[in-house]
Amino acid sequence: MTEPIELPDGRRLLVVEDGEALAAAAAERFVATTTAAVAARGRAIVALSGGSTPKKMGELLARPEFAGRVPWGETDLFWGDERWVPLASSESNAGEARRAFLDAVPAPPERIHPVATDLASPVRAAEAYEAEIRRVAGTAEGIPVFDLVLLGMGDDGHTASLFPGTAALHERDRLVVENFVPKLGVDRITFTYPLLAAAREVLVLVGGAGKADTLARVLEGPTEPEGLPSQSVRVENGTLTWLVDRAAAGSLRSAGQSG
Ligand code: 6PG
Repeated sequence: MTEPIELPDGRRLLVVEDGEALAAAAAERFVATTTAAVAARGRAIVALSGGSTPKKMGELLARPEFAGRVPWGETDLFWGDERWVPLASSESNAGEARRAFLDAVPAPPERIHPVATDLASPVRAAEAYEAEIRRVAGTAEGIPVFDLVLLGMGDDGHTASLFPGTAALHERDRLVVENFVPKLGVDRITFTYPLLAAAREVLVLVGGAGKADTLARVLEGPTEPEGLPSQSVRVENGTLTWLVDRAAAGSLRSAGQSG
C-alpha cells in the first residue's frame, strides 16, 4: 500500500495493488473503526453499500483470520442504499450481504437493519429507514453520526443511489429519500449528502480499469454536481478516503506522482 495522498477539500486517496488488497484494506478499516467506536462509545454504527467490493470485504470478515476481531455484538449495520426488491432477490443489497457473509458471522439479528422493502411504497420505506436510523443512533434532532460509511462508485459517477441528474442530489433536509432513477426505470432508497457528511469516516471503494476514467473526472476533473454525484461527497468532521486499486487509479495524475 502506498502512503495516502492528500487531495483538495480534505479528501484522501489510498492506492492498493489489486482487488484482493482493496477488500483486505477495507476489512482492516472495518475492524479498526468498529473496535475504536466500541471502545469510545460502547457501540459502532456502520453503513454498508451494495456492489462487489464490500461483498468481498464481508466474505473476508467471515473468514477465520478475522474471527473475533470484529465486535459484531455491538455493531449496528445499515445500508447506504437499497433497491426496491424483496430481501430474497439477488438485487437486494441487504439480502446479498446476508447470503455472502452476514449469515456466517455472529452479528445479532436485532443489529442488522435492512431497508423495509415490504412496505407500501419506496417513500414509506425511506421515511421508516430514517426513523430507524434516528431510533438506533439516539438522535431525535440533528444528524446521526455513522462511525463508518462504505460507498462505491458506479461507471457513471453515482454513489449510493445518488445517480446523475436525479432529485436526491438536491435533498438538504431528509437523511434518507426514495430516488427514482429514470435511466434504469427503478426506485431506489438512498442516504443523502447531509447524512454522509456527518459521518466519522467515509470509505469509497473503487476497483478495476473500467472505473479509471470516471475516477479521474471525479477526483481531478472540473466540478460536475449533476453529472458526477460521487464528486460531491464531503465529510464535515471526519475523514473521507477514496480507497482504490492500481487499475482504477490508472488515469489519475495524483496517483502517478506516488509511483
Ligand atoms: C448499489 C450501490 C452502488 C455501488 C456502485 C459500485 O446498490 O448499486 O450501492 O452505489 O456501490 O454501483 O458498485 P461496484 O463496486 O460493484 O462497481
